Amino acid sequence: MSRKILVTSALPYANGAIHLGHLVEYIQTDIWVRFQKMRGHTCHYVCADDTHGTPIMLRAEKEGITPETLIERVHGEHLRDFTGFHVGFDNYYSTNSEENRQFSYRIYDALKKDGKIVSRTISQLYDPVKNMFLPDRFVKGECPKCGAKDQYGDNCEVCGTTYQPTELKNPYSVVSGATPELRDSEHYFFKLGDCEAFLKEWVKTPGKLQEGAANKMQEWFEAGLNDWDISRDAPYFGFEIPDAPGKYFYVWLDAPVGYMASHKNLCDRLGLDFDSYWSKDSEAELYHFIGKDILYFHALFWPAMLEYAGYRTPTAINAHGFLTVDGAKMSKSRGTFITAESYLRHLNPEWLRYYYAAKLNASIEDTDLNLDDFVARVNSDLIGKYINIASRAAGFISKRFGGELSRELNSPLLAKLQAAAEGIAASFEAREYSRAVRDIMALTDEVNQYVDQNKPWELAKQEGQDALLQEVCSVLINAFRLLTIYLKPVLPKLAADVEAFLNVAPLGWADAATLLLGHAINPYQHLMTRIDPKQIEAMVEENKESLAPAAAPVAAPDYEIPPITETISIDDFMKVDLRIARIANAQHVEGAEKLLQLTLDLGTETRNVFAGIKSAYKPEDLIGKHTVMVANLAPRKMKFGMSEGMVLAAGGDGGLYILEPHAGAKPGMRVK
Ligand code: MSP
Ligand code: ZN
Repeated sequence: MSRKILVTSALPYANGAIHLGHLVEYIQTDIWVRFQKMRGHTCHYVCADDTHGTPIMLRAEKEGITPETLIERVHGEHLRDFTGFHVGFDNYYSTNSEENRQFSYRIYDALKKDGKIVSRTISQLYDPVKNMFLPDRFVKGECPKCGAKDQYGDNCEVCGTTYQPTELKNPYSVVSGATPELRDSEHYFFKLGDCEAFLKEWVKTPGKLQEGAANKMQEWFEAGLNDWDISRDAPYFGFEIPDAPGKYFYVWLDAPVGYMASHKNLCDRLGLDFDSYWSKDSEAELYHFIGKDILYFHALFWPAMLEYAGYRTPTAINAHGFLTVDGAKMSKSRGTFITAESYLRHLNPEWLRYYYAAKLNASIEDTDLNLDDFVARVNSDLIGKYINIASRAAGFISKRFGGELSRELNSPLLAKLQAAAEGIAASFEAREYSRAVRDIMALTDEVNQYVDQNKPWELAKQEGQDALLQEVCSVLINAFRLLTIYLKPVLPKLAADVEAFLNVAPLGWADAATLLLGHAINPYQHLMTRIDPKQIEAMVEENKESLAPAAAPVAAPDYEIPPITETISIDDFMKVDLRIARIANAQHVEGAEKLLQLTLDLGTETRNVFAGIKSAYKPEDLIGKHTVMVANLAPRKMKFGMSEGMVLAAGGDGGLYILEPHAGAKPGMRVK
């Protein structure tokens, strides 16, 4: 029986590049969708960029462009990356779309009519310089529990405590550096608590949630379901709430609605019946593939929103774990925070698809990409065991039999391969890809044993063995075809190349019931190369190089980094006349604890400057060096004499370091 299936992956945020972590999800989903399509089901795979919210608004501002320009550019980059990995969306849309606005309004309206929306005034931290309310992640300060510095407003990464941003000590705005103040604002809330009975019933339905996810839900029920704050104040990039000027939907309200919007856009393009998928009595299946970090939104808010707005709820939520690389969290300094784009510059996307498939199952456990294991598995399994079957048999068929396969085959080996079709299908259906791959590779081993037993290269040398040689090679080509069918959800591009080689129409799952007999194949052309470990090294190196500087401060600095201060204009900056100075002389100042007296050569004149750097430098080490000074600072009379400027130094609690230009800079040159 043919099923109607709608599948989604989570909508990636439109302010960052796709990386190998994201790809766990998109490749997992794509394999499942391709499998369903091969089974002959009607299956649509929709996704979109998640475009709203404060981070995207601020990111655009930082780049000096509108949010619309930013999200359009990122949409192109995301789609390019997904396409590069053969992720075959039927529609890749945007949450900043007219369809999404309409569905968001419709759902909000229905919830309101149903009494599920309340408003009340809350106090929130406000940035008085930037004139905006601050999301938790945009406030930093000292942890109220352990005192660790520079912790976010929601939890401490040092001691793990969660708290309110108002509890931080010495808080500051990440946006402007200003000290936030508390201000009142009216917010809208979705009464999640009122949906408790429904949700408890919903999670009990078998098959909706994995075991790990259901356990999480239980914890949340026990903790109690709080009202969900669904509004944000201007300035915000998102949808303004109808009848509430200056109030916007929180990004997470319209994000899952983006699944509907993308599907609606697809239906309108293809003339499909949208309602038959989304109405309460729909018989279509709806699956959301997500990471375990966003389960709360998908297993609580989203079903509740759908239920009380009069739509059907998901058939199941399929959550997965997180990617680690070589056993650790992806790291920019180690070069393991690998973007999709840089992977594709060095490696074949199907190698990663194969490796992920070989590791993934239906649980929410994390998945490790072990780079050595990756090379070993792809080279030994994919190339050594599978691809080699074709390359060993095809030459004889082409050269000795004009490309023609035997007209009749009676092969127990092929019968066994064919009989495996349903078991492998069941593994794909259940998202137990690692089991599917293991079973396929076990069959591949048997095919290779057949090669070793029948030695086609020896048959080829013997007189009168032509029929047997053709038979053995035809068995091998047929075995290769069957294995290709089973691997096709994982390796779509390779399968297309194999179809061209075999001279056959696109293979579906049902084709495993038949064999290729008396059929002419095309000459074999190289299908896939081995991984050279050097390619991996180059990729890791590249990710280190391009990202390491930005990553350095993130790696738990052991000194304090003060917040960036208020933005100034270029004109403000140009008022400061910075010059290269040669330290013509440096000496101690009698009676001064902290000061050194410097004589600075500016090319056309010299200056006398007292600098507070005695703790860090000996005078003799400075003489003859170049540095940078503020040349237009008003002279200042000090206890020991007139100071005619200031040298630049980096410092704080981590030491003191005066600036030194690269070789070649000359006294008097302007610095800007
Ligand atoms: N925009 C939200 C989702 C909204 S869905 C209505 C979001 N975006 S995201 O870009 O941060 O993540 C997109 C998906 O990628 C999520 O399902 C997330 O769990 C997954 N992953 C992001 N990093 C990941 C790993 N390192 N490992 C595995 N999956 C990860 O969340
Ligand atoms: Zn702490």
